[in-house]
Amino acid sequence: MSNDHEPLATGSAAGKIILFGEHAVVYGRPAIAAPVQQLRAYAEIHPGRKCQVVAVDLNRVIDVAEAPEDDPIALMVRLACHELGRSLPPWRIVIRSDIPMAAGLGSGAAIAAATARALLAGFRVDLPLARLSEMVYEVEKLHHGSPSGIDNTVVVYEKPVWFVRGWPPEPFATPRPFHLLIADTGIPSPTRFAVADVRAAWQKDPVRYEALFDRIGRIAAEARRHIEHGRSADLGPLMDENQQLLAKLGVSSPELERLCAAARAAGALGAKLSGAGRGGNMIALVEPEKRAQVKQALLAAGAKRVVETKVA
Ligand code: PMV
Repeated sequence: MSNDHEPLATGSAAGKIILFGEHAVVYGRPAIAAPVQQLRAYAEIHPGRKCQVVAVDLNRVIDVAEAPEDDPIALMVRLACHELGRSLPPWRIVIRSDIPMAAGLGSGAAIAAATARALLAGFRVDLPLARLSEMVYEVEKLHHGSPSGIDNTVVVYEKPVWFVRGWPPEPFATPRPFHLLIADTGIPSPTRFAVADVRAAWQKDPVRYEALFDRIGRIAAEARRHIEHGRSADLGPLMDENQQLLAKLGVSSPELERLCAAARAAGALGAKLSGAGRGGNMIALVEPEKRAQVKQALLAAGAKRVVETKVA
């Protein structure tokens, strides 16, 4: 028998980082993203009287039938039920996440994907990953306005992916895993504002911005070759160069620059912001034996938290 403590079904999804190519990816250039297994969102389904979402971290209970159209979690539930030809089930969907919000780590996409996976498991059906990713993309639109689709893709496929807007994502091999530290500035930075500012700047000076996007796209292509050939140390200088270009796009910040400089000074092979920028998180490429000293330096430079992850 199921009771409150034993879910009828569960689902989860990993957070993500963008290794190369954020912002330029919105304009058709390639980007590389990877899941962060250490940071996940979870959804559990319990029997209930009506279809409700309990968002534990937000301290909110959402009645799906009555929620406004722009409520992202309610939209995910409605989309999943519609896709499966089911009416809203009498379930309490309990959601938790250890992914910080508005921090460039894909929390919105991961919560949506975890919710959809729990619903699919509850209905005992499966969907192709491509379809699940499309559904999460619909929810991402509420968060981002005009997302490139990279977040939903990497969160749903849970593999490093090469992503070009409008093309099928290409999960790719990482023959030699590499280690990253992810450090949080603690400054929330909703993606839609940074994306809108880049768009306004691009509209004013398209030639300059297109050139910056081209350079970022070439870095992503070179990075992919290094990753596929197991030359992960060569990614460091590319991360530094990508960071300089992001600063030129106007999406870095003094806090992000400080964390990148501290990581490099402590022995990281390279460092850059990850995601929308302005605040949120940065990533530093580290050899395993340097992890502790770089982590210490990041904390000393003001990082609110540092997570270690391995891209494999
Ligand atoms: O969700 P974030 O903060 O990781 O940003 C997504 C990356 C952007 O390129 C800035 C936007 C997009 O839609 O790809």
